[in-house]
Amino acid sequence: MTATSSPRRKRVVGLGGTFRQASSSERIVRAVLAECAAMGAETTMFDGPSLARLPHFNPENPARTAEEQALVEAVRGCDAIVIGSPGYHGGYSGLVKNAVDLLEDLRGDARVYFEGLPVGLVVTAAGWQACGTTLSALRDVVHAMRGWPTPVGIAVNSVEQRPFGPDGALADDGIARAVRAQAQQIMGFAFEVSTEVSAGGLA
Ligand SMILES: Cc1cc2nc3c(=O)[nH]c(=O)nc-3n(C[C@H](O)[C@H](O)[C@H](O)COP(=O)(O)O)c2cc1C
Repeated sequence: MTATSSPRRKRVVGLGGTFRQASSSERIVRAVLAECAAMGAETTMFDGPSLARLPHFNPENPARTAEEQALVEAVRGCDAIVIGSPGYHGGYSGLVKNAVDLLEDLRGDARVYFEGLPVGLVVTAAGWQACGTTLSALRDVVHAMRGWPTPVGIAVNSVEQRPFGPDGALADDGIARAVRAQAQQIMGFAFEVSTEVSAGGLA
């Protein structure tokens, strides 16, 4: 008889959203996480209120609150990330940027920042222009952090589209398809890529 060990479940961390009770960016990140969970992932969400409890990141202060440690450790141990932001003044929000800046703590790790990780991106904005500019800005950030933005990025116009029905479930077929496709890309990502890049270095 051959012993087989089942692979551990992939860990997917979501972060994003706003202070608003029914934050659309948060709900869509949660929808992506739910699809990942349906495909076997273990998921953890850091929503708007939890990101708001993080102090302003100060590179000269090594002290970390329990909340800061929780976010850093979750990302340190994860296999994929989903980041969601509203479009604020044509870019992503300060709340999300502060959380991303804290992940500077991963710079000295064997796996630096988001190296080798698929990163799903979600944006909601009141207009198409900010949908595009904010998604593009987030992609740049993920590249800077050595992550791999999934080909499917989700941009929702919160004035023209109604992603959720009264029961709280995704009610827009197009958005539901994008959510599923992004989750599939996250879960199907070839994790070997990171090992090769780490081993061979970058030319
Ligand atoms: C401070 C602020 C700035 C905003 N700037 C823009 C903007 O430049 N372009 C845009 O289309 N929508 C803008 N919006 C609208 C939000 O992007 C939109 O309502 C978004 O769906 C809110 O996300 P949430 O539901 O997660 O809170 C802004 C909203 C706020 C509060």
